[in-house]
Amino acid sequence: MAWSLPAEGLNLLLTALLQAQLGLRAVLHALGLAPDIHGQPAWPFAYRIAGEMLALEPGHARRVVICIACLLLAGLSLLVSLAWRRARPGLWVLAAAVLLLAPWPEPHLLLAPAVPTSLHASPTGFTAQAIVRGQRVYQQQCVRCHGADGRGEGVEAAQLPMWPPTLNGSLLWKRLDGELFWRVRHGMRARDGSSTMPGFGPPLSHLSDTQVWEVLDYLQAHAAGQMLQESGAWTYPVRMPDAAVQCRHQPPRTLHSLDGQRLRVVADAASVQDDPRLVTVNLATNASDPECQANTPELRSSLALVLGVQPAQLAGHQLLVDRDGWLRARGQPGQADWSASDLVCRSGAAPVALASTAAAGDGLDGLIRRMDFEPVRLLRGGFPH
Ligand code: HEC
Repeated sequence: MAWSLPAEGLNLLLTALLQAQLGLRAVLHALGLAPDIHGQPAWPFAYRIAGEMLALEPGHARRVVICIACLLLAGLSLLVSLAWRRARPGLWVLAAAVLLLAPWPEPHLLLAPAVPTSLHASPTGFTAQAIVRGQRVYQQQCVRCHGADGRGEGVEAAQLPMWPPTLNGSLLWKRLDGELFWRVRHGMRARDGSSTMPGFGPPLSHLSDTQVWEVLDYLQAHAAGQMLQESGAWTYPVRMPDAAVQCRHQPPRTLHSLDGQRLRVVADAASVQDDPRLVTVNLATNASDPECQANTPELRSSLALVLGVQPAQLAGHQLLVDRDGWLRARGQPGQADWSASDLVCRSGAAPVALASTAAAGDGLDGLIRRMDFEPVRLLRGGFPH
């Protein structure tokens, strides 16, 4: 019977492999072998571990775990035999047999082509301002090919050697941030070397590194909204955009600094009752005594983007954000109470049994329990973020 790696184990494996690569990069950087590029240490190799294949193929992940165990066992046998002073041929044979019999994965499954920015992390913090600035860059530089709706049907698209892909589906989540950055900054080429997408860094164009990261934030927010409108769900987790907030009796702070607490973001209510189960953030500028008041005007446009509505249609929406900062539930205008169908970002795990509490609490109670007990995880290029 095929033994399959449990989801927790797979997550651990992917986290460990990402950390190992980041650790290697840090060591090489300290030795001067991985100089800075675009503001962070470069990944100096032509390949990286293909996290996306591990996340997709359970059989492959299982083989990789067995191989890691075999390597450890072989290493241990050799160490023991060396420590014994007198040679132990039995242990050498064991090490050799383990290495020979290990189910080595095929290199093309284990490794993926890398670029110097493969492991770069976006420095923008996914702020509302970054998303809105990215939207402007998109409209100026990208619409002509990718189209206003991101489906790849811009006015110039038909004349290109290949149609641009839709940016609204799973594509952005399948890629590593740093690899998307590289492609937009330096352009893309077909196998025969001909250019398929121009690069937007100097000398061809003049977008700064920050502008490229910001346009990627916009693409993610926009794709999330399109996904929600088309399928009724955020199939991939989306972070709450960051913004400045002013909370009652506290100095100004940012929304992301409230991570660890659940948030309810309310688009424009004249007054909302506080709720001890979560922190209420009101977007209205004239609300009476709000618990927290959002102070970044761009938050409206970026929330309209992730909801897939026009900014003018934002009023009346509510959003629930879990303790890790992920957008989890959407309340629509005119809706009286929360229900399980409002949980539009779900984890793959089976729903927790809520029977015992369902009777006691309101709809919000049930949603909060599910947000707490069914956490979601963002994978980019297979690696947890
Ligand atoms: C001249 C037309 C053109 C312009 C302008 C253009 N793109 Fe593209 N883009 C393409 C084509 C064609 C592809 C597919 C290329 C390929 O797969 O080789 C593509 C692919 C992409 C991809 C997918 C990359 C991947 O990993 O598969 C992203 C993301 C993207 N473009 C973002 C942008 C952004 C952001 C801008 C504006 C700053 C932009 N593009 C401007 C034509 C264009």
